[in-house]
Amino acid sequence: MRKLVIAAAVAALAAGAYIHKTHNELLVEMKKETKVILMMMQRAFDSKEAIEPRINTPVVDDGVAVALGEKVYNSQCIACHGPKGWGDNPMFPRLKGQPYQYVINQVNAFASGHRSGGNAVMMQAVAKNLSKHDLYNVAQYLEHADMDTATLLKPIEGFKLPGSGQLQDTTETVGEDSDYPGNLPSFTAKGDIVIDNNTGLMWEADNAGGKTMSEAQEYCRNLDSGGYTDWRIPSIKELQTIILYRNSKPATDTRVFKGIPVLGPAGFWAGPVLQVDNNTNTGWHIGFPDGHVMLYSADGYKNTRCVRSEGGQYLIAQLSDNGDGSVSDAQTDLVWQQQTAPAMKWEAALNYCENLSLAGRDDWRLPNHKELISVADYTRMSPSIDPVMFPETNTDSFYWTSTSDVTPEGNKLGHTFLRAPQRNEEVTSLIKIHNEMAWGVSFNEGGSWRYHKSGEYHVRCVAN
Ligand code: HEC
Repeated sequence: MRKLVIAAAVAALAAGAYIHKTHNELLVEMKKETKVILMMMQRAFDSKEAIEPRINTPVVDDGVAVALGEKVYNSQCIACHGPKGWGDNPMFPRLKGQPYQYVINQVNAFASGHRSGGNAVMMQAVAKNLSKHDLYNVAQYLEHADMDTATLLKPIEGFKLPGSGQLQDTTETVGEDSDYPGNLPSFTAKGDIVIDNNTGLMWEADNAGGKTMSEAQEYCRNLDSGGYTDWRIPSIKELQTIILYRNSKPATDTRVFKGIPVLGPAGFWAGPVLQVDNNTNTGWHIGFPDGHVMLYSADGYKNTRCVRSEGGQYLIAQLSDNGDGSVSDAQTDLVWQQQTAPAMKWEAALNYCENLSLAGRDDWRLPNHKELISVADYTRMSPSIDPVMFPETNTDSFYWTSTSDVTPEGNKLGHTFLRAPQRNEEVTSLIKIHNEMAWGVSFNEGGSWRYHKSGEYHVRCVAN
């Protein structure tokens, strides 16, 4: 053991750690170093018992987990372990390059008290406060700390959030989706790829077929199409941008997006992949019959449509608190009501937002389906929204969107729901009577579903 200590000290000397120290200072440092090394060896021995089987296959989410882990690291670990886990100070072990499972086991051992004594108290406090989620991501980051993750969480430059595409009027009450069309959806098809003129995202025109999440990720990583090789699975927010909520079965523009099953399952994969409570890898999908956003086990099968972007992605809202009861998102240019309004029926929600006067403005309205999804945070749950920017967000129920459900289930006119410009008055009045459902979003996990308009759900208004 003495040999090891000396070897470590020599290595430290060689690394230049003590270059400016006097002989005496050096001795004091070496004694400290000895203590630390002895402790670490003891612990390495102790923690053998704590080794658990790998909790899951690594979360290879095209770097998203790594990028999220970097955020966790930079806010909760960097002060002690130094930039990128280098461990510049001998008191704090180097973490960079440690295997995923090792970091998880050690942090769990600190949290359970299994690893204790010496400086472990510092880590015990950190470990107890670290969520499972953050731990998995930070462990991913430490294993791959050399990756350039900065671009993955950056917003896409020039990004514009497309409107929902809904054209149908379902009520005389002002404030429904079709009253605020926003940026009109616009695509350019070029051979095998489709460019979204609002978001700047480039899509594979065709469906790459049914795959598990990891197969889909691998397929996109290896794809060489349109002269590009940086394809990935889309984030859930990105995938939703190509939905057109005026259509159903499928709810998109089939002139440019090919290969969507009309009879069979038509869900498509999206990220990020999360470790949900029971430690299973879980991804996202959008059901293209109607455009619903939902979690799905990563081992299941969904369709695959790859995407790429010039740096950055549409995933993390760029929020700032305006200090007047409103929150701005620099990525979508939307302004949000910070507080949650009480539960109410859908028409009442339209009225509530139209009449709201807040933060010196009165142009509030009920957000459409894409807008409400834009403010969700898909890197966390319960709530799946930034809890500092939006305190006391309700996670037991849903929030209304202004977007009506136009599927046969939601409008009893069946599949022949006509576009507004094409229909006569008789059809218009039938639609008013029969259009019963609208979309709601849950901020427990971020999914969306169709709810009866007479149900009472929460409201958060938007303006721009
Ligand atoms: C307040 C300072 C402090 C912070 C903050 C901190 N650590 Fe530590 N960490 C330590 C100390 C001190 C040790 C050595 C503990 C010991 O001597 O048992 C350690 C040890 C570890 C170890 C064991 C390393 C090994 O090789 O034995 C891991 C893993 C670890 N920390 C991960 C983290 C992660 C992940 C974070 C951020 C979420 C973090 N630490 C934040 C102080 C800190």
